[in-house]
Amino acid sequence: MEHNSIADYEEDEDVEIPDHMLRDEFCDPENPVALNFTEISAAAYKIRDGIQQTPCSLSQMSSQYDMQIYFKKEFLQYTGSFKERGARYTLLQLSADQQNKGVIAASAGNHALALSFHGKSLGIPITVVMPIVAPLMKVSACRQYGANVIVKGNDIGESKKFALRIAKKKGLLYINGYDHPNILAGQGTMGLEILSQVPDLDACVIPVGGGGLIAGAAVAIKSLNPNVQIIGVESVQCASFSEALKAGHPIYTQSKSTLADGLAVPTVGVNAFETAKGLIDKMVLVKEEYIALAILRLIEQEKAVVEGAGATGLAAIIQGLLPELKGKKVVIALCGGNIDTTALGRVLERGLAAEGRLVRFVVTVSDRPGGIAELTRLISDLGVSIKDILHERAWLKSDVFSVQVKCVVETRDMEHSKELEQSLRKKYAQVIWGPVHQENVDID
Ligand SMILES: Cc1ncc(COP(=O)(O)O)c(C=O)c1O
Repeated sequence: MEHNSIADYEEDEDVEIPDHMLRDEFCDPENPVALNFTEISAAAYKIRDGIQQTPCSLSQMSSQYDMQIYFKKEFLQYTGSFKERGARYTLLQLSADQQNKGVIAASAGNHALALSFHGKSLGIPITVVMPIVAPLMKVSACRQYGANVIVKGNDIGESKKFALRIAKKKGLLYINGYDHPNILAGQGTMGLEILSQVPDLDACVIPVGGGGLIAGAAVAIKSLNPNVQIIGVESVQCASFSEALKAGHPIYTQSKSTLADGLAVPTVGVNAFETAKGLIDKMVLVKEEYIALAILRLIEQEKAVVEGAGATGLAAIIQGLLPELKGKKVVIALCGGNIDTTALGRVLERGLAAEGRLVRFVVTVSDRPGGIAELTRLISDLGVSIKDILHERAWLKSDVFSVQVKCVVETRDMEHSKELEQSLRKKYAQVIWGPVHQENVDID
């Protein structure tokens, strides 16, 4: 019986396949395989006509951070990420029989997009299992590329089990997006490109999820120039590679919600870890607010729309985690641009808040005619723009001729915000500055 629809697969789920049979044969924790340089060269040759050579250009942000920053713009790949490199190479390496049967993968986004797109262009059937938390934009894009998309699993771990089960039943090949050996080889081609574009770089900063990209790129770069520093970046919310390095092997590390959803892999790849562990010079963990800030700066200054995972490299610089790179030539991989428009709106607001350009405060003013007008005049005289304003009387415990005004305002920068705060404090006795966590702020 042909199985094309989700309903068919869900029916099949009743037939239990024991967990021990659900192992991914290419990613064996007992026998991890380290990638070598020859495989990356082979991959570069094979995918050369199907992948973009993305720019690696000097950024005008360089002077701001006192280093020569080059951005490797992998978000300009057709489906918006570097994942196409590994996906295309892996599909090209399949036997004719496997190409006919097709492949399956679990992915919350970029790997699924890359496989779907290149599967279509090479005529290979693709099934992707995406967790229910996968961004809608990515789910519908995979469908548009003609993939059989199954949304199943609360997280990527559950989706993977489901995908492995289908793989066993249908004889489909499961392709791990950060650990299949051919995926690592394909991702390594980004490293080759970087070296040809910026031959004398001192360091390369690479976001780390399951570890496939850093493993491939590190082999490519260190094989040709061992002096280049390889720096990995994770969000503090999902530090699985850092934890694996501490433990000496991949270890389950709970992922918490993060803007860098592409990096939320609880256990890094065994082959990726084996390959990368001796090649990484430093790992850093970035905070969420710096990821938001990096996304904002990339849009404003670089005209680049980059998703959270892709912006972590710049976030590490902004957070001041890499002071040793000052004066150096540094390539930062901007490796993905697939961010939901709604998420982008929220992220930009967070970024503006983190930079002190979006400020919230509560001030108590006179409720007599002109009281609020005086406040808004003070604000406008400073060139500050009011985004939201709300006034409340009923909850105040002080004199009945006072009113509490809550404002959200937009300023030029942190200095400008400070100027506003000082002016408000000079004029008004009761000012609460910054985020107000209690909804009914009680000013006596
Ligand atoms: C945009 C982006 N950057 C970085 C990564 C991390 O790659 P890897 O899982 O190979 O470490 C991912 C993974 O999906 C990604 O989507």
